[in-house]
Amino acid sequence: PDVVVAVDGPAAAGKTTTCVALADRFRLGYLESGRTYRVIAFEALRRGVPTGDRENLVALCDELLHESRDQDLLTSERYQAADLRSPSVNVAVSDVARVDELRKRVTQLVRLWAQRQVRCIIEGRDIGTVVFPSASIKFYLTASPEVRALRRLEQERRGSYEDVLKDVIRRDRADMSRTVSPLVPADDAITIDTTELTLNEVLGQMSSVCER
Ligand code: CDP
Repeated sequence: PDVVVAVDGPAAAGKTTTCVALADRFRLGYLESGRTYRVIAFEALRRGVPTGDRENLVALCDELLHESRDQDLLTSERYQAADLRSPSVNVAVSDVARVDELRKRVTQLVRLWAQRQVRCIIEGRDIGTVVFPSASIKFYLTASPEVRALRRLEQERRGSYEDVLKDVIRRDRADMSRTVSPLVPADDAITIDTTELTLNEVLGQMSSVCER
């Protein structure tokens, strides 16, 4: 692609909302890479594959790839958002994201998808660091865990504030401490701490970078 915008950051930092708005404004293809990790976690739970069982997780992933002819796994409409974002998937997905062999497969799928785009914006945890180290623009969105938990609660209206905060903190730890592709800002990423910013302020900052 001519342009790749990479948007990384911890859970509930506002990646999806901002990416969708920027994709619309600048006519970029949009991809949520976390969805694929969630589909694998969801299918593992549904098919009774223990998420600590790396070998069988990889076998499941290959089976899904085979069944779906690859691209489906990234963008399939077959899955309901509510299913992919359930508390049990939130827990299982951290196990899935730890498996290097799975990360390689997802990385490959994302790159193949991008090949068919002229200009695109991709959100995740490792897009600017691993998947597209040469991305044209890299953002790292973050905010305090408390603010992120509040935003997630407003958006999904599921569970108590305490539970959502606990999950955000747990996933931060899992994302940042994993040995393969840990969550860190790329050296050349523009970090935006959105704790005290409104959505429009964040979009303003991101848009002014994209306009250049
Ligand atoms: O939307 P939210 O921030 O809650 O998470 P997501 O983007 O749907 O990603 C779900 C999970 O997948 C995260 O907790 C990460 O552990 C993992 N993930 C990853 O490891 N690498 C990516 N590029 C995207 C997501």
